[in-house]
Amino acid sequence: MKVVGVVGLGAMGSGIAQLALEAGFDVVGHEVELARGEQARDRIGHFLTRKVEKGTMEQSARDDAVGRLRLTTELADLAGCDVVIEAAFEDLAVKHELFRALEASVRSDAILVTNTSALSVTEIASVLDRPERAVGMHFFNPAPLMPLVEIVRAERTADDVFEAAYELGRKLGKTPIRCSDTPGFVVNRVLIPLLNDCVRVLDETGVSPEDLDAGMQHGAGWPMGPCALLDLVGADVHVHASEALYEKLREPRMAPPPRLVRMLKAGKLGRKTGEGFYTY
Ligand code: 3HC
Repeated sequence: MKVVGVVGLGAMGSGIAQLALEAGFDVVGHEVELARGEQARDRIGHFLTRKVEKGTMEQSARDDAVGRLRLTTELADLAGCDVVIEAAFEDLAVKHELFRALEASVRSDAILVTNTSALSVTEIASVLDRPERAVGMHFFNPAPLMPLVEIVRAERTADDVFEAAYELGRKLGKTPIRCSDTPGFVVNRVLIPLLNDCVRVLDETGVSPEDLDAGMQHGAGWPMGPCALLDLVGADVHVHASEALYEKLREPRMAPPPRLVRMLKAGKLGRKTGEGFYTY
């Protein structure tokens, strides 16, 4: 594999593109508007500059990496990619339209990857003529910093495609784990109800977000508290993933807590809107 396509250059997509650039791949980044693609390039450039400033990357390697990112608004420009990773909006209809269009644009041997966090990879791949070429690679936020990637085998994923995705995960510097296409895969199956419990505890006990976060950091060894983590992930992403899990598993703990739904409706999504449990 030499050329990686990334569709959707939001927080996850730009992080994945950054990993691929750092690993030496040529990257074609697709966004619906060029300005959004340019924002992603600036973000990647910023984080790589920080690495240079901290002495963990040479300036020439930084410039080379940023120079290997080509931006486009045309899916046809992904034709030369060996693998395309979609990190678009978490909506089945959006992913279906995208996968159909991608299959029409890319080479017949190109692998199609979805970074979905809570939808079924099998369902996403069901619109393809050749669903065996599709596989899930679920990265964690922030993608450049979190070591894990879940490699998700859909019902019809071919063995060689699954192993190629696993190998790609390693080349991107991640610790890959092999998962089946079950709701929430492995980590979100555990983490989503756990974070929902944390939010319910806020209301049940009257503890403040600051104290709950301090409790879980200093009493349970979490790298950041649950409220800070929800602000990082975004109430929109978390509520959507919770609803998707609840729809499939029908366990009450999977359903998004009313407090988070209210935050979502009020536009308090977390870091991305400047306000969530905390202000930024
Ligand atoms: N992209 C690239 N680089 C980044 C970055 C980003 N988004 N954010 C920070 N960096 C770089 C910065 O350059 C920073 O250095 P600088 O401040 O000197 O410029 C450097 O990384 C280190 O940043 P931090 O000092 O903030 O790093 P920490 O040591 O505090 O660790 C953390 C940050 C890795 C986020 C840690 O707090 C952590 O592990 N938190 C838990 C995160 C987690 O659980 N994520 C999973 C969420 S669930 C999920 O993603 C599933 C999905 O389906 C919803």
